Amino acid sequence: MTIERTFSIVKPNAVAKNLIGAIYSRFEAAGLKIVAAKMLHLTREQAEGFYAEHAERPFFGGLVDFMTSGPIILQVLEGKDAVRRHREIMGATNPENALAGTLRADYADSLTENAVHGSDSAESAAREIAYFFSEGEICPRTR
Ligand code: PPS
Repeated sequence: MTIERTFSIVKPNAVAKNLIGAIYSRFEAAGLKIVAAKMLHLTREQAEGFYAEHAERPFFGGLVDFMTSGPIILQVLEGKDAVRRHREIMGATNPENALAGTLRADYADSLTENAVHGSDSAESAAREIAYFFSEGEICPRTR
């Protein structure tokens, strides 16, 4: 299994509830290493660009409203099978369907305010990482 990277967001509701450390602890406990991180308060333009593939969906406006409602933490996670492992830790998009012990089961407030985002494939991860991070902002972990 090769080492892989994925892109992750701690969303505005989780930042507002002081859950950054709790969420980072779950990543580290699962063996995912943080190789880049930053806090941003997204502009509408940044959020609309990030979620452009969903622009025609009925929830798009509400999703952009939420994602621009407060600061978020963005991170790149590195590890074996990182995309799949991160999605397991997050749980299903809709918290009503998320398995017990997952981040969304524990920290989501609703389908919209679902606490975290994670790339759904290695291809999405590469695109999403490049949307927010330059290569020089990523620090490979040798130990
Ligand atoms: S899909 O149908 O598989 O493309 O959708 P999905 O990947 O599950 O969701 C894409 C992002 O949209 C958010 N989402 C919603 N927000 C608000 N309301 C509704 N109904 C809704 N449905 C999906 C979902 O949380 C995803 O956001 P990210 O940041 O990618 O997790």
